[in-house]
Amino acid sequence: MSTHNVWTHKGTFLLAAVGSAVGLGNLWRFPYLTGENGGGAFILVYALTIFAVGIPILIAETMLGRASRRSPIMGMRFLTRTHQASRAWESIGWLGAASAFLILSFYSVIAGWAIHYTWLMLTGSLVGADAATIGAGFDVLLASPGLLTLYHTLFIIASGLIVGMGIHKGIENGLRIMMPALFVILLVVLAYSIANGDFAAAASFLFTFNLADLSLEGWLQAMGQSFFTLSLGMGAIMAYGAYMASDASLSRTAFAVAFVDTAVAMVAGLAIFSLVFGAGLDAGAGPGLMFVTLPLAFAEMPFGGLIGGVFFILVLGAAISSSISLIEPVAAFLVERFDLTRPQAVFVMVVASWALGLLTVISFNTWAEGSPFHALFGRSAFDFIELLTNIFMPLGGMLIALFAGWALTHSEVMKEMRTGETWFQVWRFLVRFVAPAAVAFVFLRTIPQVEGYLIPTLGALIIVGAFAASRTFLAGNRQEQ
Ligand code: PHE
Repeated sequence: MSTHNVWTHKGTFLLAAVGSAVGLGNLWRFPYLTGENGGGAFILVYALTIFAVGIPILIAETMLGRASRRSPIMGMRFLTRTHQASRAWESIGWLGAASAFLILSFYSVIAGWAIHYTWLMLTGSLVGADAATIGAGFDVLLASPGLLTLYHTLFIIASGLIVGMGIHKGIENGLRIMMPALFVILLVVLAYSIANGDFAAAASFLFTFNLADLSLEGWLQAMGQSFFTLSLGMGAIMAYGAYMASDASLSRTAFAVAFVDTAVAMVAGLAIFSLVFGAGLDAGAGPGLMFVTLPLAFAEMPFGGLIGGVFFILVLGAAISSSISLIEPVAAFLVERFDLTRPQAVFVMVVASWALGLLTVISFNTWAEGSPFHALFGRSAFDFIELLTNIFMPLGGMLIALFAGWALTHSEVMKEMRTGETWFQVWRFLVRFVAPAAVAFVFLRTIPQVEGYLIPTLGALIIVGAFAASRTFLAGNRQEQ
């Protein structure tokens, strides 16, 4: 049975959802993807997807959580029962749990790099260092399985401790301290970068929209990024939604989450590119942008060690507030389903995900190119796991949109959304047609790049189609009209 926990305040869900959304996706992934894809045009597609696809799915996912008041797996089981829908919809919960487990495994390793750089910055080790030294330092870090494992372990333990303390004492209290601090630090870093960097170049890079700059691959990445950055399609938002106060507004909250998340990404982008351009460096460095290019910019600037250290603390805080939302859905499921205590459930989730994370650790060294894994899958274990989540998250998002759009009745949705008929119609059109079509488009276009996954991806799409056409589904739909 569900524990029917509810957040302490009406606004706590917003805090928790923002905590989940704002993370490495905003500070690390968004700037480097934008840099690689030529700036403004990428942002345009990203912003459009956030509004047309992200927000409607965010509303849908929160709604499923709050309507069931259970962890994603048990919640979907409950909803399929109460709606006489096919139990196959439960796959939303399972896909989510699998994604959470997979994402946490590599998220924790990458967040671990930020521990290393916080240390390097605060001790002033990089002050005055040149590009070759800083680049080599990053390579040495990646080449050391021991060091990577140490940081990965520290990060995942810290996240586990917070979730283990419960949603009130651990998650709420943690977020209440961390989130305001993060916003303050972000503004300090922005002010510093305006003073020391080239703000005008950053602004024109980010806000000059030239669609011709954008490759097809860039389109796909922009869409994938909008799912990742809003934590959509994998149960985190659903798990937090299960604790949301019944009288908090779904639509307003979803807009606020998307707005803050986008604003943080933009501010981070402006700050990082100001520093990077100010130091005359290249924006298109890829994943190394934050760990090589940015430290280099700090190395040349006044108080760079201190501000750089503070910046990496920001990265760490944002990563922890996201990783706890990856642990919560699975831990809550283990508590509900197997009657474990919360600390036991967190322990199981964290240890399993930690162990899987070791694959990411060795992807950068012992199992880098040339390993049997590479030979078998044509990519590193880390790339493989990331690819899986890039398939699972949009797939989960699409199923959530379809279930909320087609299986839930008008009156139920209205009970949760409590909004005017016009917005309801717009929302339902978006989740019924636009969001699924956008995701299907992404999948179809991705296929040529991942031929090896053609069959599974097509299979998944066919299963989705079968759900949509299943008799139970049609019955649920008809009864509402
Ligand atoms: N949204 C987080 C980020 O931007 C990542 C995340 C994805 C967190 C999915 C939870 C669930 O870093």
